[in-house]
Amino acid sequence: MLRRRTGKDKAPSSDNKLDIGSKEEKELRDEFGDAKVKQLVIKPRSKRRNGFIFMLGGIFGIFIALFFANQHEVISLESLMDLNLESLIEAMPQGLVSDVKAFSQHERDTVSYDSFSVGLHLQSQGIKAKHPVVMIPGVISTGLESWGTGESSRQYFRRRLWGSWSMMRALVMDKAEWKNHVMLDRKTGLDPPGIKLRAAQGFDATDFFITGYWIWSKILENLATIGYDPTNAFSAAYDWRLSYLNLEVRDSYFTRLKSYIEIAVLVQGEKITLASHSMGSQVVLFFFKWVESDEHGKGGKDWVNRHIDSWVNISGCMLGAVKGLTAVLSGEMRDTAQLNAFAVYGLEKFLSKEERAEIFRAMPGISSMLPKGGEAIWGNSTWAPDDQPGQTLTFGNLLNFQDPNSTYTQRNLTTPESLQYLLDQSEDWYRDSVLNSYSHGVAHTKREVEANEKDPRKWLNPLEARLPLAPDMKIYCFYGVGKPTERSYFYQEEPDPLVKLNVSMDTTVTNGEGVDRGVLMGEGDGTVNLLSSGYMCAKGWRMKRYNPAGSKIKVFEMPHEPDRFSPRGGPNTGDHVDILGRASLNDLLLRVASGKGDLIEETFVSNIREYADRVQIFDD
Ligand SMILES: *[C@@H]1O[C@H](CO)[C@@H](O)[C@H](O)[C@H]1NC(C)=O
Ligand SMILES: *[C@@H]1O[C@H](CO)[C@@H](O)[C@H](O)[C@H]1NC(C)=O
Ligand SMILES: *[C@@H]1O[C@H](CO)[C@@H](O)[C@H](O)[C@H]1NC(C)=O
Ligand SMILES: *[C@@H]1O[C@H](CO)[C@@H](O)[C@H](O)[C@H]1NC(C)=O
Ligand SMILES: *[C@@H]1O[C@H](CO)[C@@H](O)[C@H](O)[C@H]1NC(C)=O
Repeated sequence: MLRRRTGKDKAPSSDNKLDIGSKEEKELRDEFGDAKVKQLVIKPRSKRRNGFIFMLGGIFGIFIALFFANQHEVISLESLMDLNLESLIEAMPQGLVSDVKAFSQHERDTVSYDSFSVGLHLQSQGIKAKHPVVMIPGVISTGLESWGTGESSRQYFRRRLWGSWSMMRALVMDKAEWKNHVMLDRKTGLDPPGIKLRAAQGFDATDFFITGYWIWSKILENLATIGYDPTNAFSAAYDWRLSYLNLEVRDSYFTRLKSYIEIAVLVQGEKITLASHSMGSQVVLFFFKWVESDEHGKGGKDWVNRHIDSWVNISGCMLGAVKGLTAVLSGEMRDTAQLNAFAVYGLEKFLSKEERAEIFRAMPGISSMLPKGGEAIWGNSTWAPDDQPGQTLTFGNLLNFQDPNSTYTQRNLTTPESLQYLLDQSEDWYRDSVLNSYSHGVAHTKREVEANEKDPRKWLNPLEARLPLAPDMKIYCFYGVGKPTERSYFYQEEPDPLVKLNVSMDTTVTNGEGVDRGVLMGEGDGTVNLLSSGYMCAKGWRMKRYNPAGSKIKVFEMPHEPDRFSPRGGPNTGDHVDILGRASLNDLLLRVASGKGDLIEETFVSNIREYADRVQIFDD
């Protein structure tokens, strides 16, 4: 009875049982317990497996097929007959079953493209591994595992409470406990008492988010084809919930990274290629400051120059993203997470927006993506650098209120005003945690920049802290453009003066000036605004005070040309996350790692240079 197939599979034969010891097997055991994983039958259609159909049957014959086909091949788990999942299924809202079906259909329609091909092509041209590669992943995409052994945590021991089926299950079965685990302590910004969540380690932590949803796996495949393996490639996963200083306080993250890099340079005799994605680019910038600081890493003033050959910065968000603000302000996440539709689905379905805002605020790392650079970058009440000719509503106002009678503000708010609004309305602990960790301004003179060298709060803001003195280091900025990206919002306040910070997006506003359900779109990669991804690379770091040693900067913009039939956009996507699978991005990354980055030609397809010239920041 419990049967559902994809494709032309036939009755399972004995040689396609689930491999003992395989990753799939481990994952299923983790999810459902040992006893339950005995009747699994898989049918690989080709050599790799990263798709799944889960058949979960209850007594009442309810099925849910969760399907995460990547491409190439499908594994069908046909008879999970004795899974005792009634309770799980009862807990799931009715609509979920149909939603999941629709979603899996969508994922199944993926058009496949062969990810090894880029590497193989380059290999045939004589490109081979040279610089050891260290990868720094972005926000949200690293799995978090529970290591707590207290009463409430034991059931989760070594399960991923972020980035796995365990997360979904915990969300459905015991939301309060799940929240207790993923939220950090408000006062300390560290684990709450009795709870311990740590970033998963190794390539497994970041190659897939949830089975089948790739993040770094395509890059790994391509790196491998030109000779990379765990001896010369490393994924430096971190707990993205922590503020950056706490990464060191709790996990000695920067000390470990420094030591890993030093050993790799010593053993391989080559400097490192760093590849960072999204928030990872901020981690790198912070690391550079930290490692050379006399009070912190004590690596010396030339540490970066001696150890880093090149920094490939993919979809970096140096100047934050306006989305970062609405996420902590009101838990908005119209594709904020930009991740697995299913993970987002979980957050959206099982948590109210108040709960999401509460969770995001209790993850100080998320607040590192609040927009930086103030009105100079993001515009004032009448004007913004990226306003288009003829545009009636300026992007300069980040939060617009239709009702001028609001309790807290009588007018529309620019980006710095919106930040102030957030801080004014939120609780003290949150305001303190942001102000003690981050800074959002602009240093207009060399003197100010140099004075900030000793202030870790400024290190994350490239408009207040300079690049390290590394004349030999090359910086490559690769990012997608041409995907509509949230730029400005309409908000409303809830009519309860006793509740602080009870605002929400005013989705009733849709007008001819480009506003759709409360949101005005601008340019970017779908998550990060073009101004944030492009400004420092196109202009900021070409100014002396921000890059005094003259590290070479090269930009390669990639237009978003998604494949209509591929949910992940196919080989030419410019999407913030999916770009990691883009063919040309992989090609360029391999060239840099193999020491041929000099041959890459700088490429602009957007108007970022014009916008950058309008930004109100000048060389001194
Ligand atoms: C906004 O900035 C533009 C460009 O610098 C300037 O011309 C304009 O006067 C400013 N508007 C306000 C209200 O400050
Ligand atoms: C905010 O801007 C919108 C759009 O221009 C306008 O309709 C509204 O009246 C403004 N709100 C306030 C409080 O000024
Ligand atoms: C603004 O609020 C005041 C009191 O809160 C009220 O008397 C007035 O009618 C409101 N005006 C509008 C335009 O809503
Ligand atoms: C915010 O206001 C809405 C509507 O007035 C209400 O349903 C919700 O409970 C409020 N949120 C909080 C955190 O009080
Ligand atoms: C990284 O790239 C982003 C654009 O993708 C850019 O905004 C940022 O300034 C870059 N950082 C460095 C150090 O290249």
